[in-house]
Parts: sequence; structure tokens; C-alpha cells
Amino acid sequence: MEIKAKDRAACSVHLSDDEKDIVIIDQRALPNEEVYLRIRDHKEMYRAIATLAVRGAPAIGIFAGYCVYVLSVHFDTDDPGKLCAYLKEQGDYLIFARPTAVNLGWAIKRMLAAADRADGTDVNRLRARLKDEAVAIHDEDIAMCRRIAEYGLSLIRPGDGILTHCNAGPLATSRYGTALGPILLGKERGIDLKVYADETRPLLQGARLTSYELLRAGVDVTLICDNMASLVMRNGWVQACFVGCDRIAANGDFANKIGTCGVAILAKHYGIPFYTLGPVSTIDMDCPTGEEIAIELRDGDEIRKMWYEKPMAPAGVACYNPAFDVTDHELVTAIVTDRGIVYPPFDKGLKELFENGKDQDRSFF
Ligand code: MRU
Repeated sequence: MEIKAKDRAACSVHLSDDEKDIVIIDQRALPNEEVYLRIRDHKEMYRAIATLAVRGAPAIGIFAGYCVYVLSVHFDTDDPGKLCAYLKEQGDYLIFARPTAVNLGWAIKRMLAAADRADGTDVNRLRARLKDEAVAIHDEDIAMCRRIAEYGLSLIRPGDGILTHCNAGPLATSRYGTALGPILLGKERGIDLKVYADETRPLLQGARLTSYELLRAGVDVTLICDNMASLVMRNGWVQACFVGCDRIAANGDFANKIGTCGVAILAKHYGIPFYTLGPVSTIDMDCPTGEEIAIELRDGDEIRKMWYEKPMAPAGVACYNPAFDVTDHELVTAIVTDRGIVYPPFDKGLKELFENGKDQDRSFF
């Protein structure tokens, strides 16, 4: 699949034309304003990830790749060894911006490994090597999302109702997204689906981002509060649930936005297939089960007062604000990856996916 510079430039994260900054659409400002930020400083990079200006596991991975490259551009040295040491230090700092999504650490490690391989050549070649690696991470994501969209589309029929949670669309990835990929690809092909988007408390990624992306694409989308999913399912309006993932453990347990597990439990109750969709880069074979996934805890003010004109909870009330939960693999119908659809038993299927390498299933291009 040939990916052109204009395809990358249309993504929520990309390199500026002069290659000195990373350009991101500020997801905190959506849907009211489309604000673009140019980022080059390491503290700004950390803040962009931690405050969710850039968010969604794959988008964080793409951003992290460009972070390492941009940092290399601005570090003034002729010594490749010094540059590698500096990038390692910065990588160790950035990796802590958010703990749950595997893609952050995965992309940083991949960039540092590329730097190590190029150490010994001159700094300009080293930087060029890093740019190639960052662009490769980005291009691979565009291609992976497209494949996921194809596989996901094969699971549903025209007219189906799809329930989704949080935002796993183009903003969170590259062109098609993961969970929204089949819906957007279906739209392009004249296959109409009806989407129910959970608003996704407390940061409202479903209300602010999913409904924004789907409306713009002309998809029939209805926004619901998180606590309405059960009713919508009971009414028979949902034929499948599509959600993204931040880290898939080797046994098929996976972390995703808080509330995902509740959707999976409801889907099981009503006999509705529940799918998580994500690129192979989201699978962490070093993580045996969901028990080992670190869950990010965020500021209670996101619950108490964010989005409200006045606080809607008494000052000082204790809040518990985990950003993610883990869905047990027993609740999952299938994991839709860019290399194919994995059905239970997931430990066996995911292992085979890694051992067999690329696209053993079928190629779409
Ligand atoms: O806290 P967020 O908004 O980064 O959480 C995002 C999710 O949980 C997504 O579903 C996941 O990262 C997959 S995005 C393709």
C-alpha cells in the first residue's frame, strides 16, 4: 500500500513540512474548535500525552516516534554516541506520561533500537534513520487500520446497529481508526450502519470525538449516556459492539477506556457479539494476563468539575478515577487485528499470530 505525504499530513499527528515540529490536532479542544499545535520541546511532548491533547493508543505511538526524531533534530551535537544517550534519557522520561497503552513504550523502544543500530555512523545519517523509522511507524499504522477495517467489516451486515465506547477512530490512530474503521470503510462503500456512541465519562471521548468524526463522515450516529447502553441493547438495536484497546495481554484480556468491561458484560447478557479491534502493536505478549496491566489513575477533578460551569460534587469528596479497565477474555467474541481475526482460545490464537508473522490470512491490497 503506497502512502503519500499528503495521507500522513491528513492524520491527527504528523511531522511539520520543515521537519522541526510535530503537528497535532488538539483533541482537548474538539468538537468546538479545531486547534493545531506545533510541538518540539520534551516537556510539551510529555504534557500533550498526559493531558490527552494527543490520545488513543496508536496515535500516542505515532506521536512518540516523531518525538524521538524531533528531539534528535534539535539536539546540537556531532557525536552519535551522545545523541543516542540523550534520546535514551528523553525516552525514559516520556514513557511515564501514560502507563496503560502499550504503544507509547513500544514506539519509544523501537526508535531507540533504530538509533542504536545507526550509532557509529555520523549524526546526520542517524537522524535520517530515525526519521525513516518514525515515518514507518506512521505508515504501518495507516495500513494496519485499513486492514482492521476490512476484517471488521466482514463481521457485520448492512443496517446493523453498532455500539462503541470511547473513541477509536481516525483521531486516535491514522486514517480509518480501529473500532470505527469498519464503519467508515462501510460508509465509503455505501454500506449504512447505525452507530450508538457511549458518551464515555468522565472525559467524554465518545461525545466529543466519536460523534464528531462519525457526523463529519455522514454516518448515522446517536449519542447515548454510558448508562443507557443496556436499554439500547435490550431494545434489540445493537447487533455488535466494536471497541478499541490499549493493551492486549497474551491470554486475550485487554485494557481499554473505563466502562468497556461493563459494555462487554452487557453484551454477553444480551447475546450480542463483542469485538475489540486493534493493531498487532497493541498486543503485549510479555504481559500474561490483564492482572499485570498497569491502570492509569487520573485527577478526581475530571469527575467533580471538569465540563461543568460550577462543580457538580462537594469540594473535597473522594474520587476514584481509573482511566481504563480490563475486560476479561471470556467476554470477548473475537479480537480483530491487522493480521486477521483471532477467536478463542486467545492464548493459542495470539501466539500463532506472532509466530506466523505477516498476513497469513488474506491480503486486501
Ligand atoms: O484515554 P484515552 O482517550 O487515550 O483512551 C483511549 C481508548 O481507550 C481507546 O479505545 C484506545 O486507545 C484505542 S484507540 C484506537
